[in-house]
Amino acid sequence: MKILYKAFLFSLLVVLPCSLFSQNVPQGKSQFLFFDDVIEHTQKKLHQTLDEIRYNSSMHPSHTNRESGMWEEAYMRRSEWTSGFFAGTLWNMYRITGEEFWRELATDWTEDLESAAKFNFDHDTGFRVMNSYGVGYLITSKRPYFRVLITGAQTLSTRFSPAVGAIKSWDPWHGLDATYPVIIDNLMNLELLFYTARELNNDHLYDIAVRHAETSLEHHMRPDGSTYHIVDFNEYGEVNSKFTRQGYGPNSVWARGQAWAVYGFTMAYRFTRDQRFLEAAEAAANYFTGNLPEDFVPYYDFLEPVRSVRTKDASAAAITASALFELYSHTSKSEYFNSAVNILNALSSENYLSIHSKESSVLRQSTLHRGLGNVGTSYADYYFLEAIIRYKEITHQPFPQIAANHTFYLEQNFPNPFNNSTRIFYSIEEYLDVEITLYDASGRKIRTLRREPHAPGTYSLEINASGLSTGVYFYSVTAGNQRQLRKMVHIK
Ligand code: GLY
Repeated sequence: MKILYKAFLFSLLVVLPCSLFSQNVPQGKSQFLFFDDVIEHTQKKLHQTLDEIRYNSSMHPSHTNRESGMWEEAYMRRSEWTSGFFAGTLWNMYRITGEEFWRELATDWTEDLESAAKFNFDHDTGFRVMNSYGVGYLITSKRPYFRVLITGAQTLSTRFSPAVGAIKSWDPWHGLDATYPVIIDNLMNLELLFYTARELNNDHLYDIAVRHAETSLEHHMRPDGSTYHIVDFNEYGEVNSKFTRQGYGPNSVWARGQAWAVYGFTMAYRFTRDQRFLEAAEAAANYFTGNLPEDFVPYYDFLEPVRSVRTKDASAAAITASALFELYSHTSKSEYFNSAVNILNALSSENYLSIHSKESSVLRQSTLHRGLGNVGTSYADYYFLEAIIRYKEITHQPFPQIAANHTFYLEQNFPNPFNNSTRIFYSIEEYLDVEITLYDASGRKIRTLRREPHAPGTYSLEINASGLSTGVYFYSVTAGNQRQLRKMVHIK
């Protein structure tokens, strides 16, 4: 009964409002992914974070300390540009699990941010309230939440200059020697304007958002699809200079800025259906995916020449993966879907997931700016989870009945690595149909190892790999609705 209820809740909360993502999956691509394990890991890290911040809902995690792996306390204020992400992740965890626990926490962390809708000292109102109140409103339809979105949109709109045709991103307190800086990230905050404008039928907010996106398209984008981080204008809207602050140098390509461009223009197309924005999104996406290193996660700047500062940016990868799923939903171009899956698979590996490391974040290896890499961030985690939700929606896969509903447990095989023969162990607490399958490293099925009904009890199964070559293999055990995957290494 509980399972049925959860499946219903999932379809109500996730699948229906996001019909945008009800697409067919491109054929010929391995669908072998560890996302269910990732969700479990995410829950674990959220619990770790909640303990760390003592369930204090005025603390909004932003990034971790490189040495301790704990969230930096000095950056948890409401005024940080990142304050909305943790609340958004809590909402998304509620979407996935249907657990009241997550909903209560999401409510607390969201409602602590009400005053952020009136912060007018920068352009980040969208990040602060759209990811908290916006996601919460989508899920709960609470009218007071929508009123906060309206306040936020009005606040943001006051930073728009018709002469420049853009919102001013930063004020002088940012320490930048600039007159009217507009940053590529600012595109993301347009979602608050577009969304509110659509719900209220408000042309004023809509026009500001369109005009800003047009200005960004004209001045941030380069002909090869890469982007500048900052364009500084004078008061008449003439360009003073173009450069990057968080990336390597004036003409370099800061990876997270590029990710914001992919996401931002894709989102602008969602609301406007303006072909120019779709083309910009595709150009930015093609630059991003066409310049990735072998493991699909970019260095913090695509053009950083100095090896020792060339740290990875998992956040840029996660933002782009989520954006690429949406881009696929608009274009039906399978390369976007496949690139997103490649990125998510990479992020789900031990290199980027904090499975064996102490970080309180879900993902490791993000970079804040040049020279400050190897940290976890709440925004990498937010977009990573959002991307997984989008993947599940596109592929029509329900989430597993995780944590609270477990009636099946799988241990790691022993020995591992192994030579020819190893044994897997699992236990079951109710009558369930069990299927055990062996896969190769790319997710292709090799054979079914066992398929039969099981009574409650503890079981083991020997896997004989004498006919298989040396390498990585996977096995999955499906028990009723529950499924778990494990990796093993065969050495001949
Ligand atoms: N929006 C600030 C950053 O991406 O670092």
